[in-house]
Amino acid sequence: MKYGALPLAALVALVPAFVAAQAGQWGQCGGIGWNGPTTCTSGWTCTYSNPYYSQCLQGSSSSSSTSKSTSTTTSSTTKSTTTTSSTTKSSSTTTSSSTSKSSTTTTSTSTSSTGTTTPVAGNPYAGKTVIPNPFYAAEIQAAIPLFTDSNLAAKAATVETIPTFFWLDTVAKVPTLGGYLKQAAQTPNAVFQIVVYDLPNRDCHAKASNGEFQISDNGVANYENYIDQIVAQIKANPGVTVVAVIEPDSLANLVTNLSDPNCSAAQTAYKQCIVYAIQQLSKVNVAMYLDAGHAGWLGWPANLQPAATLFSQILQTAGSPNTVRGLATNVANYNALSAVTPDPCTQGDPNYDEIHYINALAPMLTSSGFPAHFIVDQGRSGQQNLRQQWGDWCNIKGAGFGTRPTTNTGSALIDAIVWVKPGGECDGTSNSSAPRYDSTCSLSDADQPAPQAGQWFQEYFQTLVSKANPPL
Ligand code: BGC
Repeated sequence: MKYGALPLAALVALVPAFVAAQAGQWGQCGGIGWNGPTTCTSGWTCTYSNPYYSQCLQGSSSSSSTSKSTSTTTSSTTKSTTTTSSTTKSSSTTTSSSTSKSSTTTTSTSTSSTGTTTPVAGNPYAGKTVIPNPFYAAEIQAAIPLFTDSNLAAKAATVETIPTFFWLDTVAKVPTLGGYLKQAAQTPNAVFQIVVYDLPNRDCHAKASNGEFQISDNGVANYENYIDQIVAQIKANPGVTVVAVIEPDSLANLVTNLSDPNCSAAQTAYKQCIVYAIQQLSKVNVAMYLDAGHAGWLGWPANLQPAATLFSQILQTAGSPNTVRGLATNVANYNALSAVTPDPCTQGDPNYDEIHYINALAPMLTSSGFPAHFIVDQGRSGQQNLRQQWGDWCNIKGAGFGTRPTTNTGSALIDAIVWVKPGGECDGTSNSSAPRYDSTCSLSDADQPAPQAGQWFQEYFQTLVSKANPPL
């Protein structure tokens, strides 16, 4: 997955079975575009999951219609760096991300919506139906038959209905976007969520997610071409509100990690590319949230003002389009939105959770002219107090799915709780002889053995399901 390859089993799962009279255990039995069986083998019930997928589950009550569509909201992921000292600016690093949850709504028709990519005023999630990520749905469909515990498998199958972000982590994935948007447009007032994640010299302060483009090898031009392709896909498939998280970890690294030569060398290109992305995506009215690390990174008091200053400079350089709605926090990380008590690993940071971080940063954003609106990833934040160090970001052991995506956030500053990181996709390999090996992925709090970043990590997914809080 690291280089964007979808596991073969997941691709197979995308292909409808045209012949079987009855779907088997865990099989697909409905969904938009589905031409296969709509009933299940004896003892199993066709159960609606999302507009694109109904599945044979054990002992569930039925509703096998393929025309029903559900809405939800979601969000995206990122990773981030952390610092451990409380009074100074931090240099340490880590990544992680979080997910978001989504609000559900139901709809009933499959009529296609029309219209163009009109600008979204205000919260882009308000009153919308957030569409689950089909890429993640295919991964889950491939994962279900590997469960040995049927009870857990049934819970896992429900995760498909929860919106996550589609990560455009390679240029090769971009052509897929158009089909997803076309499908999403069949649901009225749909939101589709993407992560723009392909900067040259990506992941400058870590190794696990180093990307496909190099600054020294035409990286900026390649990136601009990647953005142009995304814009073309959106333009060709109007009618859906696209929400994008822009470049996880990148600007946060420029706030705290310029002492790392890899980040200082990437600084100019990162800024140029992000400004370009904002300007071009604005033309097709994408609602953008720039990635802002998390409480354990930019939330340290010394980092707040430098962060607010950088975000506002980037926005101004891009011409201050109102399509930039705000910031995304905790992408691919594990922090609570609101912790009952500070996790011991937060070591005295007054902003020991995302809500404290957001409340501290918001006034500084406002006075710098940057819109103080947020989405917060809670996808893998269901369990707390798991980490040895706050900066640990790689496949944290014992993590569980968190609060579901919703617009009921409890804070006027937060547009939506989202799931940015599709839980089950790996943060980085633990194999020390593999490319992109980052030693963070071999720490004692990192689940091992782990495959490459982005690849499916079955055992990790099963744990996220079993430790989900609230339970699935
Ligand atoms: C990986 C990407 C992946 C993303 C979401 C990142 O850490 O580098 O390849 O798409 O996580 O799982």
